[in-house]
Amino acid sequence: MKIKKIVIGSDHAGYELKEKVKAHLENRGITVFDVGTDSTDSCDYPMFADALCKKIQLGEFERGILVCGTGIGMSIAANKHKGIRAACCSDTYSAKMTRQHNDANVLCFGARVIGEGLACDLTDLFTDTDYEGGKHARRVAMLDELL
Ligand code: RB5
Repeated sequence: MKIKKIVIGSDHAGYELKEKVKAHLENRGITVFDVGTDSTDSCDYPMFADALCKKIQLGEFERGILVCGTGIGMSIAANKHKGIRAACCSDTYSAKMTRQHNDANVLCFGARVIGEGLACDLTDLFTDTDYEGGKHARRVAMLDELL
């Protein structure tokens, strides 16, 4: 089921793609809260990953999207937060499966890796795909014990 709101963030490398994905989400009727950055001026991605993850940890948002050059730095930073399950994706199968099996609550992608069309497709799968639970619940609970 499509979520109603989402939090989004990027560094300078992801800024332009973040803005495009934000417009795409808003066009689909999803309310977007942007933690920045707000320009292509050089900045440090862990800061924005941290700001976004805290919003999820506080229960203000269920899911978030982080964009940097590769998506990798953002996913490493996000996964250092308890309760955050961040997946760096550049194909639609992974974006769908990480919702169904991992209950991923943060999607990361790289603006230097994928284009706008694929980023929007990944975003739609991330916002619209339900977690399957069942046999996956035990494994997801184990993930939360690792931090
Ligand atoms: C910034 O140049 C780049 O290192 C960053 O956006 C990201 O790709 C890190 O993982």
